[in-house]
Amino acid sequence: MRLSGRVALITGGSRGIGKATARIFAAEGAQVAITGRDDGRLQEAARELGVPGFAGDIRRSADVGSVVGRTMDRFGRIDILVNNAGIFPEVMPLHETPEEKWTEVIDVNLTGQFRYTKSVIPHMMEGGGCIINVSSDAGLRSFENFEADSYSAAKAAIIHLTRAWAVEYARYRIRVNCVCPGIVETDMTEPFLRTEADRAMAVAEHPIGRIGSPDDVARSILYFASEESSWVTGAVLPVDGGVSVK
Ligand SMILES: NC(=O)c1ccc[n+]([C@@H]2O[C@H](COP(=O)([O-])OP(=O)(O)OC[C@H]3O[C@@H](n4cnc5c(N)ncnc54)[C@H](OP(=O)(O)O)[C@@H]3O)[C@@H](O)[C@H]2O)c1
Repeated sequence: MRLSGRVALITGGSRGIGKATARIFAAEGAQVAITGRDDGRLQEAARELGVPGFAGDIRRSADVGSVVGRTMDRFGRIDILVNNAGIFPEVMPLHETPEEKWTEVIDVNLTGQFRYTKSVIPHMMEGGGCIINVSSDAGLRSFENFEADSYSAAKAAIIHLTRAWAVEYARYRIRVNCVCPGIVETDMTEPFLRTEADRAMAVAEHPIGRIGSPDDVARSILYFASEESSWVTGAVLPVDGGVSVK
């Protein structure tokens, strides 16, 4: 029970990595709230996990404030924030990318993390806390034919903000760490893993010889949320079967 007595808010908790994290956190004794945009999907996940789901669009400050407020009303505190919600853009070269598509990805994947962090930090300033940002290998290095520049930009910025926030908020005993997954099997990557050939190509990218599961990433998030990492802040951990070091 590594998270006994802790309260965690997980963005993007309705599916994929966020849902796996919510399940592991609850099994480790945390009181968990999940959030997502689609309320139907969120409530289904919430029922399955036995935790409350508070819907909100990460692009709207008012929604973010409402989700954080409802979590506070329900549990009276927030000890752990997992900044996990994200979208993947339509793949296209930079010079063909319409500005509104660029802006949408930055709004969800970067400004959204700013909104949640800004809203939660005042509730952590007295008692301390943990923030775990979910970035990506795409924020660590470039990949040939990746062609998702807005995504790479947001994920690289989140890595840097992890370090900046770690230094800025250490005096309040708020630790800020980051995980960088490789390819993980979720709804986000489903369109890229449809054929056997696509899947074989994705597997071949990873020196460990397989793509990741949501649990692979959730377990690393658990480490940063638990006391096992009590002297770790500003860390950026690739969880990627070795992709980032090859
Ligand atoms: N899968 C991978 O290979 C991979 C690799 C590296 C990094 N990551 C990162 O890991 C995180 C989770 O990815 P995943 O693969 O688990 O994705 P996913 O299965 O597509 O889930 C994305 C989650 O984000 C939420 N979300 C999206 N737009 C939102 C919005 N405007 N407002 C509120 N919530 C919103 C979704 O809610 P709805 O269900 O309501 O849409 C959903 O809960 C993302 O940050 C992603 O960039 C994933």
